[in-house]
Amino acid sequence: MTTPDTRPTEAKRLADIDWNNLGFSYIKTDLRYLSYWKDGEWDEGRLTGDNRLHIAEGSTALHYGQQCFEGLKAYRCADGSINLFRPDQNAARMQASCRRLLMPELPTDRFIDACVQVVRANEHFIPPYGTGGSLYLRPFLIGVGDNIGVRTAPEFLFSVFCTPVGPYFKGGLTPSNFITSLYDRAAPNGTGAAKVGGNYAASLLPNYEAKKRDFADVIYLDPATHTKIEEVGAANFFAITKDGRRFVTPQSPSILPSITKYSLLWIAKHRLGLEVEEGDVRLDRLGEFAEAGACGTAAVITPIGGIQHGETFHVFYSETEPGPVTRRLYDELTGIQFGDREAPEGWIVKV
Ligand SMILES: Cc1ncc(COP(=O)(O)O)c(C=O)c1O
Repeated sequence: MTTPDTRPTEAKRLADIDWNNLGFSYIKTDLRYLSYWKDGEWDEGRLTGDNRLHIAEGSTALHYGQQCFEGLKAYRCADGSINLFRPDQNAARMQASCRRLLMPELPTDRFIDACVQVVRANEHFIPPYGTGGSLYLRPFLIGVGDNIGVRTAPEFLFSVFCTPVGPYFKGGLTPSNFITSLYDRAAPNGTGAAKVGGNYAASLLPNYEAKKRDFADVIYLDPATHTKIEEVGAANFFAITKDGRRFVTPQSPSILPSITKYSLLWIAKHRLGLEVEEGDVRLDRLGEFAEAGACGTAAVITPIGGIQHGETFHVFYSETEPGPVTRRLYDELTGIQFGDREAPEGWIVKV
């Protein structure tokens, strides 16, 4: 007969976590933040233990995709302190998404305060320093309230929850292979630059089809001509030229402005002394590059082994090893995030 487990649920959940082998999946944490917008203003917000939302059946978020979200991480440092990486940039991007979808903006200080409250309330879910894991925060803002027509919602809800995570693409710094898609995640003048659910709904089928063929995810091409690389699934694309001196990344109104990408542009220029270029990355330029990678909060830096485009499979540095510049970018970025390397002014908010 087995002895009944009488530990409190919380303790059991924590004890069951294998910190060294976290994937990117949901683990329920203790508390999340909620704030409602009604009659032109946000309420003061509060933490709750309930991880279910009770919202109107006519909520615009459910029918017309009036919602946006963010993703950022809290990192445990060697000295035990906790770092948030550039939360002001996530606040600003959520405000831009709100403007695009006609939703009320949440001020930056309120956004950061909500993130800090959620991290403090769930501190014991932050993976220990040295495991490579971090606490992923998911702020989101949705249209709610009684409604039926296609119009902006009468009420809104802002929330932040968190969950401990490891690497998004299996293998961390081990390269992954990707395949270009005939599908688009966003239209040329659509919502690609906003972090809104519709773009991700459009990506589910292409992602499923890529995985069926053993690719990690899809490379999206520019929706107007399908001749240029735009995004790597839920991450931005970068490449390093064959002379090892230039960091190149796409610029387009239909890609999500990645905070990691802009951080890497700065790191490449100021820490690695590289030239940097934001511009068109035409598929017929791939031969110029020695290394390529996907970058994002969840992806961190995932080296791209090769890209399948039609019948051609283009290999960059290697299908098994990260290239030298990719590794230096990774060390510098994660060093800043985990507090091991000096951060540029304003990049780290201590919790
Ligand atoms: C479509 C898409 N592109 C790029 C990124 C990377 O952005 P960030 O570096 O801000 O996480 C993400 C993730 O947020 C994304 O979903």
